Amino acid sequence: MDANSYLVTELIDAGLNRREARWLVEEFSPDNPEAIAAMRVAAQRRLDGEPIQYVLGHWPFRSLDLELDRRVLIPRPETEELVGLAFDELMQRSLKEPLIVDLGCGSGAIGLSLLFELRQLGVHATLVAVDSSRDALDVTRANAAKHGLEGVTTVHSSWFEALDESLLGRVDLIVANPPYVGAAEFATLDPVLGYEPLGALVSEDTVRAEGFLDLEVIIGQSCAWLAPNGLLICEHGNMHRAPILQSAHDAMFADVQDLDDMFGNPRFLIAKR
Ligand SMILES: C[S@@+](CC[C@H](N)C(=O)[O-])C[C@H]1O[C@@H](n2cnc3c(N)ncnc32)[C@H](O)[C@@H]1O
Repeated sequence: MDANSYLVTELIDAGLNRREARWLVEEFSPDNPEAIAAMRVAAQRRLDGEPIQYVLGHWPFRSLDLELDRRVLIPRPETEELVGLAFDELMQRSLKEPLIVDLGCGSGAIGLSLLFELRQLGVHATLVAVDSSRDALDVTRANAAKHGLEGVTTVHSSWFEALDESLLGRVDLIVANPPYVGAAEFATLDPVLGYEPLGALVSEDTVRAEGFLDLEVIIGQSCAWLAPNGLLICEHGNMHRAPILQSAHDAMFADVQDLDDMFGNPRFLIAKR
């Protein structure tokens, strides 16, 4: 057995599964005492329950390897689907230089993936990445730099509040994966979610639905920022289909549909101005 195989076995014996044990050994290239010690510290974090994405400090999301830590939500597989929907809609419009706003950008997963994938096809999009967390904006900037993505502006704002008014009526696509879990539901969920920022997950209830306040604000205010034919695509909770369709109709979107995710749960609003 080579030295790395011994270390994988050591981590499995300590309680990690084989896949994660291998990832940690690959991540730390433990060929000296300091690296071995750092790997053991990381393994202990994982054994204590911290998500593997934070322990490794990066994770793949569509085409990008995103830097991740506890300042931002771990991007979910459903959100990769959201990017696919947004990408297809944008490609249908044949825009040369689309303007995209990513509300609640977190790690930058949605907006940066769109920018990257569009650029691969020669479409040079501009991204305004918005978050109320300065920490999240730092992570988005780090991920933009890591992937050499230009044309990204980060804005510290509660949704549209601090956006430059020159953007009014000019945005081709607004994407959002806002917090959408109600506080009562959150209390019943897996405690592992406690590793992620609470402000990325939990939203206030409204008369329409639990955990719906942020979605209501975004849907209510988006039309004013969208260009003619512009599009809002946002992710929402399992119980939000009826209130979300109602909110989109109230906001006077011309064309509204709501799609299931790959698990068959109601998940994505696509609303055209
Ligand atoms: C569910 S996370 C989504 C992160 C990322 N877009 C993703 O899909 O992985 C929601 C994000 O919205 C941000 N957020 C929460 N309330 C906000 C507000 N009022 N204005 C702007 N951003 C907000 C959080 O800081 C967090 O980064």
